[in-house]
Amino acid sequence: MTSNPYPLGLRLHGRRVVVVGGGAVATRRVPALLDAGADVLLVAPELTPALRARADAGRLHWVPRRFVPEDLDGAWLVQVAVDDPIAAASVSAVAAERRIFCVRADDRTAATAWTPAVTRHGPVTVAVLGGGDPRRAMTVRDAIRDLLAVRLAPDGIAGRPDASTGTTGGRQAGRVALVGAGPGDPELITVKGWRLLTEADVVVADRLVPGLLLDELRPDVELVDASKIPYGPSRAQEEINQILVDRALAGAFVVRLKGGDPYVFGRGGEELLACAAAGVPVTVVPGVTSSIAAPAAAGIPVTHRGVAHEFTVVSGHLAPDAPASLVRWDALAGLHGTLVILMGLKNLAAITGTLIAHGRSPQTPAAVVQEATTGTQRVLRSTLGEVAADLRAADLRPPAVVVVGDVVGALDG
Ligand SMILES: C[S@@+](CC[C@H](N)C(=O)[O-])C[C@H]1O[C@@H](n2cnc3c(N)ncnc32)[C@H](O)[C@@H]1O
Repeated sequence: MTSNPYPLGLRLHGRRVVVVGGGAVATRRVPALLDAGADVLLVAPELTPALRARADAGRLHWVPRRFVPEDLDGAWLVQVAVDDPIAAASVSAVAAERRIFCVRADDRTAATAWTPAVTRHGPVTVAVLGGGDPRRAMTVRDAIRDLLAVRLAPDGIAGRPDASTGTTGGRQAGRVALVGAGPGDPELITVKGWRLLTEADVVVADRLVPGLLLDELRPDVELVDASKIPYGPSRAQEEINQILVDRALAGAFVVRLKGGDPYVFGRGGEELLACAAAGVPVTVVPGVTSSIAAPAAAGIPVTHRGVAHEFTVVSGHLAPDAPASLVRWDALAGLHGTLVILMGLKNLAAITGTLIAHGRSPQTPAAVVQEATTGTQRVLRSTLGEVAADLRAADLRPPAVVVVGDVVGALDG
């Protein structure tokens, strides 16, 4: 007899869930159980390395042997993740005797509970059951996931339901999120950053933020172009802080969208402190920083086995002899690893000269990556001794990252 399943959201926090089996299926099932806070008891003679790592980290209890009925003492749920139908049936029989729901990987028809295909969007969980057909469930789940992504975007289907917005939905109102937008390719924002962006009432964006992300904002979102705020750099920062605080205190959900990562030469810390001083709650969403992504986009790994065991990210916005400089360029010259210089084009001749003067070889490979990860990316490969002159000749411009070190040629065939 087939009747419809009855959907439930199990609140497993602190509750015992027994997983029988330590192979691929268990490896896939266990993370969601741990995420739900379940007290997971894993019964299996052997574990995959991923499960073993969780056991070693104390995230679950592992009993390294075959299942015995007492394993179900105190359990609320059982997941049978073994291929052997006889072993699975015996676990299932004990579970049924004790009125414990039992999910079976080997035979869905014999199971008393099914795990749905799931997509999660912040606090919303959508779970799909496909009438016993996991492929159908996944297909429908994928469609819903895509639909939600579109719906959260501007001009999504049927306009914009109020519940997803900050002020009207109320959930995020009066808050600020400092969101890293990534280095340039709009697809390099994080999933969380993108979601918060689609929920924003106000977006305060930097110059280096990928334009396409802004292009996709809902028409009613107030967009503040932080790069157009007049006054000097420190005054402008105060203005930005004030805008964040004022809009949030007025009840808006404000996303401060910053290029790369908010805390890598992004002044995110100052904005966080300003909001905290005004009692405005702040969420920080890290971003893909250009200091790693720009080299990567040019085929340069910042570390490479046998080549570089360290990388240092440094700002070159001040010349090495500038009194306000906080960088020990002489010490950096003594390192063997990778040096990634941001905001360094203007002072590059002075910087490379200082590094060479303090002992770094002029033959050290160097590269400049301009507008990395965008359609206009340019890459110049050179050496520490030549890069400043080559840069001028090639007319490379900011934003660009300079990479110094043997990693520059590490992946060259
Ligand atoms: C004020 S810093 C901000 C860095 C940013 N928070 C990050 O994590 O990437 C700006 C500098 O980042 C570097 N930069 C940012 N985006 C870049 C890109 N797409 N390509 C090359 N360099 C980039 C440049 O050195 C630029 O001058």
